[in-house]
Amino acid sequence: MKKSVLKMPIVDIHTHIYPPSYVDLLRSRKTVPYVRNFEDAPDSSRLIILPGEDDPSTPSTSRGRPIGAEYYDIKQKIAFMDQHKIDKSVISLANPWLDFLPASEAGDAARKINDDVNEICAGYPGRLYAFGTLPLSADADTIVKEVDRLSSLKYMRGVIMGTSGLGNGLDDTKLDPVWAAIEKAGQMIFLHPHYGLPKEVYGPRANEYGHVLPLALGFPLETTIAVSRMLLSGVWDRFTKLNVLLAHSGGTLPFLAGRIESCILHDGHLKKAGTRDNRRKVWDILKTNIYLDAVIYSEVGLGAAVAASGADRLLFGTDHPFFPPLEEDVEEWHSVNANYTAIAKVFDNDGRAKDVLGNNAVRILKLDE
Ligand code: URA
Ligand code: ZN
Repeated sequence: MKKSVLKMPIVDIHTHIYPPSYVDLLRSRKTVPYVRNFEDAPDSSRLIILPGEDDPSTPSTSRGRPIGAEYYDIKQKIAFMDQHKIDKSVISLANPWLDFLPASEAGDAARKINDDVNEICAGYPGRLYAFGTLPLSADADTIVKEVDRLSSLKYMRGVIMGTSGLGNGLDDTKLDPVWAAIEKAGQMIFLHPHYGLPKEVYGPRANEYGHVLPLALGFPLETTIAVSRMLLSGVWDRFTKLNVLLAHSGGTLPFLAGRIESCILHDGHLKKAGTRDNRRKVWDILKTNIYLDAVIYSEVGLGAAVAASGADRLLFGTDHPFFPPLEEDVEEWHSVNANYTAIAKVFDNDGRAKDVLGNNAVRILKLDE
């Protein structure tokens, strides 16, 4: 699909960066997450971020992933955008954000990262915007202050967040001041997985399967469970204008929404506790508070996302710099083209394709201001 045919902005809302200051932080660490050059391959750095990627039974040269300039050099992001006809990107710090920092360091680190990312965007006016990072290991007051400060940074359009919250997940009522501040600021929460599922579910042969099980299934199920917990704890009943953009087309939420509703309806404990009275239904929240990215690589998943939330709430993304082609001589990324192709197939290149590819992002995230 080419821009010249459709005449529209193409906007990538799911695209990550580890700014140089964050890479320095990872280089200074000895436990996950960290960046290191191992003795058996001293010339190549590896990025070790996911839980368990550090397993000593894995040879050091296949631990994590090689980290090159595409992870931290904004020029490479711009070259990737040009290569794939992307006009604007809303960049976000990649996982695991600042989740691992001691409380005393998190506030300063968030301010530094957010200023750095805002500055990076300022180098490419009109092309780059960003989701900020919150100091989630700090106290709620420090987090709320950073939410408020983000509103004063020109290129920030919301926050990226994992599923751990303040340490006890997103159904923790201690997060209420944070939800209130984000809702009041009118910021979008980009909810993104990192922790996956307990490694036992992948079985004793997990090492034979690379990253496939944690990335293809652990990530989406983590997102689905986190959002279901928000729903069950009434976050959207208390914060009716809280907007959340779900990574990877909502994990499996569009596909499982009916089952979630049915389980709520048939649950004796909820009936007795009265917690299902006057609650908002998942279908309502999917069409009012939730936005979905279109990073699902096939028309089947994309079809479920459209059916659940509508084409006006679906936004194109790439997940760059993750999922590069493994072949050395390939310039266009298969992962990006799979998302472009799914959009073309589901919408038959009608007006809704333009909306998903860019118009929705411009409207929802105010990228023309
Ligand atoms: N792997 C990650 O760790 N993060 C992403 O966003 C994608 C793949
Ligand atoms: Zn991502």
